Amino acid sequence: MLDEILTALDPQPGQHLVDGTAGGGGHLSHLAERVAPDGWVLGIDRDPKAIDRIQERLRGAPVKVACGNYTELPTFLAEIEQPQVDGVLLDLGLSSDQLADDTRGFSFNIDGPLDLRFNPDAGEPAWRLLERLSQEHLADLIYEFGEERFSRRIARAIVEVRRTAPVRTSHELASLVQRCIPMRDRDKIHPATRTFQALRIAVNQELDSLRRMLSKLPSLVVPGGRVAIISFHSLEDRLVKDAFQQDPRWQRLTKKPIIPSDQEIHSNPRSRSAKLRVAVRVADRTS
Ligand SMILES: C[S@@+](CC[C@H](N)C(=O)[O-])C[C@H]1O[C@@H](n2cnc3c(N)ncnc32)[C@H](O)[C@@H]1O
Repeated sequence: MLDEILTALDPQPGQHLVDGTAGGGGHLSHLAERVAPDGWVLGIDRDPKAIDRIQERLRGAPVKVACGNYTELPTFLAEIEQPQVDGVLLDLGLSSDQLADDTRGFSFNIDGPLDLRFNPDAGEPAWRLLERLSQEHLADLIYEFGEERFSRRIARAIVEVRRTAPVRTSHELASLVQRCIPMRDRDKIHPATRTFQALRIAVNQELDSLRRMLSKLPSLVVPGGRVAIISFHSLEDRLVKDAFQQDPRWQRLTKKPIIPSDQEIHSNPRSRSAKLRVAVRVADRTS
């Protein structure tokens, strides 16, 4: 949804922008082109590999980088003595580079250790969560973050197998989940999609980060500045929708989310569940 993002943020030469989920640097590079030569874009990612790649790929572009959670934006901005910016982009979820990395376990099509951390140097990998949590806790987590109606069955199977051989890889988890979901209840997506999503959200505390960021954002964006957020599932989209609707410091530019065209879904099937919401920071009232 590159065109939609550029229309939404309307980047201008000289502006200061933030891409809080820089990933492969695709959106970042286009934003940097638009703000050049006097502006800059700060690209943030929790994944150290993503930051290394961006530094390599975008050498010479008006880009600053920071490795960390986008919730640390106030600190990153304080370090460069720039309290507010003209626009912020968040493209939530995981990148194609992460999906293709066989050391991370993000894809059920590629076998690898079931890690699922955006930053593999911090926190707890997913396989350890599967070893440690109670059956009830696992079931609640898979239900809440994956909206998976067979969550109890999946949690029971995880606890049963871990007595002898704990789940350690993406293929082991994918085939376990597959065995728990009856043929007649399968839809177009892979039966393990919702369970992987749930574990990834839990491991990275994704909803918590988004909630915290939404409460910080209004004070970090100048009046007239814009925020564009792309979410990939209803749990995230609901948080964004509510924040833009309920916080009087935002004026929504999208009452309904913008979704990808059929052509984009055809060329990039992963975009099928993307929803873009955009808001403008309104000026504070003076009394
Ligand atoms: C969908 S990808 C972004 C792709 C990017 N827009 C591009 O053009 O290549 C999401 C990225 O956000 C990062 N990420 C997810 N949650 C984050 C957070 N709370 N703070 C910083 N980065 C985060 C992930 O590591 C991943 O690299």
